[in-house]
Amino acid sequence: MLLKYHCNILLILIVANSICVKASDIRRYSFVVREALYERLCERKWILTVNGKFPGPSLKVHAGETIVVDVLNRGNYNITLHWHGVKQPRNPWADGPAYITQCPIQPGKRFSEKIIFSKEEGTLWWHAHSDWSRATVHGLIMVYPRPGGSYPFPKPDAEVPIILGEWWKEDVMKVLEEFVASGGQPRDSDAYTINGQPGELYPCSAPRRFVMKVDPGKTYLLRIVNADMNEILFFGVARHHLTVVGTDGCYTEPLTRGYIAISPGQTMDCLLRSDQPPARYYMAACPYVNGAGISFDNTTATAILRYAGSSRHTPPEFPKLPSPNDTSAALNFTYSIKSLISKLHPIVVPQKINKRITTTVSVNVFPCEACAGPNGTRLAAAMNNISFSAPPVDILEAYYYQIPGIFSKKFPESPPLVFNYTADFIPLELEIPKKGTKVAMLRYNSNIEVVFQGTNQVGELDHPMHLHGFSFFVVGWGFGNFDPNKDPLSYNLVDPQKRNTVIVPRNGWTAIRFTADNPGVWFLHCHFERHLTWGMETVFIVRSGRGPAARVLPPPPDMPPC
Ligand code: C2O
Ligand code: CU
Repeated sequence: MLLKYHCNILLILIVANSICVKASDIRRYSFVVREALYERLCERKWILTVNGKFPGPSLKVHAGETIVVDVLNRGNYNITLHWHGVKQPRNPWADGPAYITQCPIQPGKRFSEKIIFSKEEGTLWWHAHSDWSRATVHGLIMVYPRPGGSYPFPKPDAEVPIILGEWWKEDVMKVLEEFVASGGQPRDSDAYTINGQPGELYPCSAPRRFVMKVDPGKTYLLRIVNADMNEILFFGVARHHLTVVGTDGCYTEPLTRGYIAISPGQTMDCLLRSDQPPARYYMAACPYVNGAGISFDNTTATAILRYAGSSRHTPPEFPKLPSPNDTSAALNFTYSIKSLISKLHPIVVPQKINKRITTTVSVNVFPCEACAGPNGTRLAAAMNNISFSAPPVDILEAYYYQIPGIFSKKFPESPPLVFNYTADFIPLELEIPKKGTKVAMLRYNSNIEVVFQGTNQVGELDHPMHLHGFSFFVVGWGFGNFDPNKDPLSYNLVDPQKRNTVIVPRNGWTAIRFTADNPGVWFLHCHFERHLTWGMETVFIVRSGRGPAARVLPPPPDMPPC
């Protein structure tokens, strides 16, 4: 009894102490969500922004720092913000996905969000996580080494944000409403953008294209994020190589290539040497989409890399990028990335697992009278045949306050229907999912493996799967159906890449591992916005462990009400 009493006092002291120390130097940022008038592709339109900017403001922090962002919603829609890739240890309250960890911030209302950085280092980003607002509400997060620390690569002479985006002439909320009402595909976007500008291959865009000015013989760190909605992109710079040194806020073994492939949700830190004859060179971003019968915006965004003193009269050279359906180009690049192993950045890959969750990720259909999906159906998407329905109260609050009837804890640990997922022909009966709000419960500190199994149900396609609250190791992948007896034998358990978003190959599978050491409610979903809208998502609830340090923090006092 006495001992317990003692410990409690000690703990209060430690907690109180750390709050005191930190409170004085916590940096605060103000994010005002509001409409702003922007002109692109010869047309003006109002878009939702943060602080009137598109792309939004960058956050610059050090590893291990905690900051507060005061969010004020002056827009006309409910909104939430997500700090993509920030693990927020024990603090799911400020993670952001609407109806998963919070109810949205209503117009006129505020929410102060505490963002806790821990081991992330490199580039992450923030974006809206309600409706389709993230199309224009997003920005970069640059996470520098701790004060006094350094990069595990030669210090670049300068760094340049590269934010890839997607633009519709129409209001994105209308795009969303339309395709949800019709049951079909969303209409294609009208342009891709580099730092908010489409570039001169689009009408009225040449004068405002993004220009990156360089001096010869220098090294530049490109902090790249794909903030677009629905496409994996190829990106490259004419005649220049890109050396990947980090992905999703983790350092990698340097990998030098002529182009990169980057999915929505992913970030990449790349070094570029200005070692070519002084001139102007195009940088370009174009889609990778390989799926039968899928319409997509097949255009190319460009920007200019301009050497000091180069002539404006010689036309710039264009980079050689793979063609839009080049699966092997995309996957070769993606799966060549390896974690950096160093004393300062050790990695601990779970060698033994406590639980494997195998889940299909599929595009599906619901029967419908006259919808715009294939043969009059309504398009849907699912994981393990459950098309996720958002609850009326967020899952985090329902879990924390034990509100019954909001969600079920029975997300299946393997596909409820076993069939040849990647067969050429799959009967219609197998294409219809069930609706549900089911989550998977994970034991604190258990080692989890998740196998994402792509299917050819309505159509095969790559899926960028994103997990909140963690970085995971990508231990294996392949085409066809995952074989639990054979495939784990070829896993990389030595230096697999660490990510928060991974491209699951079309008609194939990907296996990831992580230790469930972050108690809370964490969203898992496809980062293609239309698939998220259709239900390709679930939630992991990591139970609390023993002792206060293994428990979810108490909620902030200003959680937005439902
Ligand atoms: Cu980039 Cu659930 O988010
Ligand atoms: Cu998807």
